[in-house]
This record gives sequence, structure tokens and C-alpha cells, in this order.
Amino acid sequence: MEKIKVVVIGCGDRATVYAKEGCKNLGAMVVVAAVDPDETRLKYMRDEFGVKEENCFKSVDEILKRGKIADCIINGTMDQLHVSTTLPFLEQGYDVLLEKPITNNEKDLLNIKDTAAKHGCRLFVCHVLRYSPFYRKIKELIMGGEIGKIVNISTTERVGVFHSSVAFIRGKWNKEKECGSSLLLAKCCHDLDLICWLNNSTVPDVIYSDGGRNFITPENAPEGAGTRCLVDCPPEVREKCIFDVQSMYLDNCMLPWYPWQCTGKNWWEVTEEEKVESLKTYNPHGRCAYKCDGDLVDHQNVSIKFADGSTAMHSMLLSSFKAGRSIFVTGTLGEIEGYAEEGRFVVRHYDKKTSCYTEKEYNFNDKKGETGGHFGGDRGIVQDFTSFIRGNGYSVSCTSIEDSVNGHVLVFRADESLKSGKAVKFAK
Ligand SMILES: NC(=O)c1ccc[n+]([C@@H]2O[C@H](COP(=O)([O-])OP(=O)(O)OC[C@H]3O[C@@H](n4cnc5c(N)ncnc54)[C@H](O)[C@@H]3O)[C@@H](O)[C@H]2O)c1
Repeated sequence: MEKIKVVVIGCGDRATVYAKEGCKNLGAMVVVAAVDPDETRLKYMRDEFGVKEENCFKSVDEILKRGKIADCIINGTMDQLHVSTTLPFLEQGYDVLLEKPITNNEKDLLNIKDTAAKHGCRLFVCHVLRYSPFYRKIKELIMGGEIGKIVNISTTERVGVFHSSVAFIRGKWNKEKECGSSLLLAKCCHDLDLICWLNNSTVPDVIYSDGGRNFITPENAPEGAGTRCLVDCPPEVREKCIFDVQSMYLDNCMLPWYPWQCTGKNWWEVTEEEKVESLKTYNPHGRCAYKCDGDLVDHQNVSIKFADGSTAMHSMLLSSFKAGRSIFVTGTLGEIEGYAEEGRFVVRHYDKKTSCYTEKEYNFNDKKGETGGHFGGDRGIVQDFTSFIRGNGYSVSCTSIEDSVNGHVLVFRADESLKSGKAVKFAK
């Protein structure tokens, strides 16, 4: 079968994950061109995907002059660039695999949706969790009537200490003013999207949210803490501090593509000496976590009432010791309780014989590691995108763009409620 021709825009971590899934693991795609202002990333695209030198571009404007040269784009630019780097490709008739969040405001959201519709383009938003076997099975069971009508959905997202630090406290998403996304939009647009998608026989009606920035703040820094761990923080303070950069980034670096990005080198090429030097001087990850200049909340709850009377609650927490997502869906005929990190959920029904319940377990843990990141969602979305482009229609995961729009609007309304302290209507 002919391979799908792809242009990669923003050749960083996420876009290359999808390109690898499509080209190497599924063997269904070929990268014909790449766009990134960073020459290191373009070189990577040449070395890793065989993109020709003449098809590497420093800006979208340069490639747009060539007209439509591929079937689709994978857009993995940072949050604030999603709209400006997607619209012109939709106008040229490209199908799009776009990283979340689509945008941080309603006007652009509707513009993207309408532009895709006007030009007959397919736009997949990387709500990768929907495409993981874990959440997909939950959706299939709900659609099959296994637990009856949804009464309540309760989800949590506990972001681990390391992930919180590297992305939202010291990292490139730590300021809404700069990156364009609130913490709820950057981290939990997945969860609010899941809630809308699982309960899409109805629509959200009223939203209330509370939370704040109360714990990872300068006032809560350990007594005597400095401003840069390796420069002016006393060893006895660092020893007790969970955010100490020595243990976090030098001894146990879990997501190495984040803290060394600012060196301008591929992370695997950065020497230990360069890492230490960067943390002591210009690297934002070298700063005291409590004294960074971020503006995000560190915990937030969102409560939703749907038009049919069902309800949902999502709880988000930064710097949890055990990271993970949980889900509890209660229906009129049964309930589902699951833990995504464990790859396991159970379905319960009332048992009239014992006045207790029966329980059936679904376990996806045995396939862990073989299916790609996000519990298999990274591979799942590329698989479904590929299949859709080849004319095979929507899967259970990739429902209409309206579901993605609803999930995003839900985030906007929740943040509005957080700021105003009042419940807000979903429909304006
Ligand atoms: N689906 C998920 O679960 C998930 C997980 C993590 C991140 N994300 C999202 O993925 C996106 C990318 O994150 P990342 O960590 O891969 O970022 P990244 O910094 O690794 O990659 C972004 C790339 O875009 C390039 N770039 C900058 N300006 C550009 C421009 N004008 N035109 C083209 N390219 C440009 C940068 O040089 C960089 O290589 C973000 O929006 C993020 O929120 C999604």
C-alpha cells in the first residue's frame, strides 16, 4: 500500500514520537518535509527520517510557497503556535494531526474547526488517552450499555513530583502568560476531553472550579533555601528538599528531553559538565522550584453538571508522590473503577443473590511497554489517523471534532469559574 506523505511542523519531542510511530512502527508514513527554526532538529529529521536537505525549512512560510506537497501534516509546535501554524495548511487542503491544546481561546477554536470544515480537511487532535486500549475499552463498555446511563464520572490526575517540576514548575509550561496555557489546559484538557467523550450523549451545562497556587510558592520554600540549587542553596537544605536538582536532573532524570533542551544540543549529546554548568547558570531547571516565576495553580478541582442531570468531577494536583490518573464512572446499572498507570479497571454490577456485587477485571498491563507512550495512546492515535486518511472512517476514539471542541470549552469555562469564584454556564 502506498505510504502516506507527511510534513512534520515543529520537529521536537512530540511530533517525532508520532512520526516514529507512523514511519517506523506502523510502516505507513513517510516524512517528505520538515519545518523547524532549530537546525539541530532539522538535522535530526534528515538523519532519522531521511528528509532531503532541500525539503527542510526554517519557517512555515517557506514551505507554504511550494503548495501542497504531502497528504497531511503532523503539528508538534508549542501550544501558542498551534493556530498560526495550522490554519494555512488547512487552507491548502492538508489533513492535520495537531498536538493538544488546539488553542487557548474560543474564537480561534471555532476558526480552526470551521476552516477544516470549509476545506474538507480532517483534523485529529492528539487527545492520545482516548486512543489507548484502557480508555477505549471503557468507552466501548459504556456505549454497549454495560453500566446503563451515566450518573457520575469522577477522575483525578496526580502529576508526579518530577513531571511537575520539569514541565510546570521550572519548565516551558510554567507561565500561562508565555506559553498561552493554564495548567488545566496544558495538563488536563485530556481529562476534560475524556469526560465529554465518555458522556457525549449529553452536553455540559454548568461548571464550577476552585483551587489555587498555594503550596509551591516562595513562602513555602524550605528555610534557608537559595535561588539556584547548585549555587546558593546550603547542602543541609537541599538534602531535605524534594526538588533538589542533583537527585532530580543529574542522578535520576526521567524525561531527559526537557531539562537539557535549553543547551541547544540533542539531550543525549550533553555532557555531565555541560549539564552542571547549565544548572548553575542559565538553565531554568537550575532554579529553586519554590522561587520560580511561574503563574500556574498547583491544584484545581472542576465540577460539571450536564444537561441530562448527570455530573462529573475532575481533581488535578501538582507534585503528587505517586503519579497517576484514576477514573470512576457510576451508571444506573453498574460502575467502572480504573487506574490508568496500573492499566487495570474493574466493572461492577449489583448481585441480588448476595446483596453485594460482582466484579470483572480488565487488565492491559501485560502489554505495557510494547504499545508506545500514554498507555498505548501515542501508537493508537497514529494508527487511527492513518486508517482514517485511507478512507476507513472514524474509530470509537476519533469521534467528531465537536467532542474536542467541547472538552476545550469546558477548560475555558472552568478557568473562568476559578478566576471569578462563580459557577458558569457552558453555553454562552
Ligand atoms: N498529547 C500529549 O499528551 C502531549 C504531551 C506533551 C506535550 N504535548 C504538547 O505537544 C506540543 C509540543 O511539545 P514538545 O514537548 O514536543 O515541544 P518541543 O519544544 O520539543 O517541540 C517544539 C518544536 O517546535 C519548534 N518550533 C518553534 N517555533 C516554530 C515555528 N514557528 N515553526 C515550526 N516549528 C517551531 C521548536 O524548535 C521545537 O523543535 C505542545 O503543544 C505540548 O503541549 C502533548
